[in-house]
Amino acid sequence: MTQGILLVGGMGTRLLPLTRSVPKPMLPIAGLPVTEHQLMAAKDAGITSIVLAASYLSEVFIPYFGDGSRWGIHLQYAVETEPLGTGGAIRNAAKFLNGLENIAIFNGDVLSSHNLAKQIEMHESRDADVTLHLTEVSDARAYGCVSTGKDGRVSAFNEKMENPIANTINAGCYIFNPRVLLDIPVEQVVSIERDIFPQLIESRRKIYGYIDRSYWIDIGTPQTLLQGSSDLVAGTSRSAALDSLNLDRHMGDYLAMEGSIISPSAQLSGGTSVCRGASIGDGAKMEGSIISSNAIVLRNVTLTKCFVAEGATVDSGSHLSHAYVGRDGVTALIA
Ligand code: GTP
Repeated sequence: MTQGILLVGGMGTRLLPLTRSVPKPMLPIAGLPVTEHQLMAAKDAGITSIVLAASYLSEVFIPYFGDGSRWGIHLQYAVETEPLGTGGAIRNAAKFLNGLENIAIFNGDVLSSHNLAKQIEMHESRDADVTLHLTEVSDARAYGCVSTGKDGRVSAFNEKMENPIANTINAGCYIFNPRVLLDIPVEQVVSIERDIFPQLIESRRKIYGYIDRSYWIDIGTPQTLLQGSSDLVAGTSRSAALDSLNLDRHMGDYLAMEGSIISPSAQLSGGTSVCRGASIGDGAKMEGSIISSNAIVLRNVTLTKCFVAEGATVDSGSHLSHAYVGRDGVTALIA
């Protein structure tokens, strides 16, 4: 199986104001866009032809990724003029793919070390309609909660609920048999989680859950975005995109991309990442923060769990915690 769809068209409202001018999948995690980490993970599992299903701020992806050849991937773009929801986006993007082969589908806001090859193997060996990656969390209220029987067959799929029926949740990576596409209406707004999965289960289609408890994080909130980035820098999780760059990760305290400048008197810790072209001034102390491309951190700044936007400047002497620094000012990040 070699083909996939990456869903990157959501508005990312839980991440505002970070997503005002940068779509969530293009936010930098450990120095690179979330999408770049995901594309390389897919490529590692042999998926080399991928459609980016884009909508909100779709114009940002093409200049960065082009046709994907720099990454050894064949990339195409399915752009929705009006967002079609996760189901509508899959249906729309699938027209670029081979209609006979299975398709790997990824939410564009997840970092996962699960064994994708094993998930595909399970799907193929059972001739499943859909095989979902499931993971386990202690509090499932914010997620789609999925129960399975002994044979792994999914018996219930419930989107976010107050009293979850299980701790196994939808981890946002699906293998589809292409016949399932016929169950999704064309050019209509439809949610794969709320509309299509419950309907497929109801009609007794072969939906299986592949449970894998490897590292997994949904980077959909400011806290989890910062956490996902620090985990990669610290080596708690791994990304093929970073491995191929052969970067010095400074003992897991911080990561500095090529073309960034860091004063020798600055102290960076807690998995801080500094993107290309950013500069960090004298006496800066930064913990667990993300400094985007071409941002400037002036002298004697202290940042704890902050996100500094592309091209933004942090004024000298600033002491900020859990904050977003944009080009037009500072906003608190709500926990
Ligand atoms: P929130 O607004 O913060 O919930 O974020 P979101 O808009 O990204 O929604 P959600 O986290 O539920 O989306 C899961 C994945 O599907 C993300 O990767 C989104 O980019 C993607 N997605 C959501 N809606 C659409 C859509 O209408 N079209 C496309 N192409 N992708 C979508």
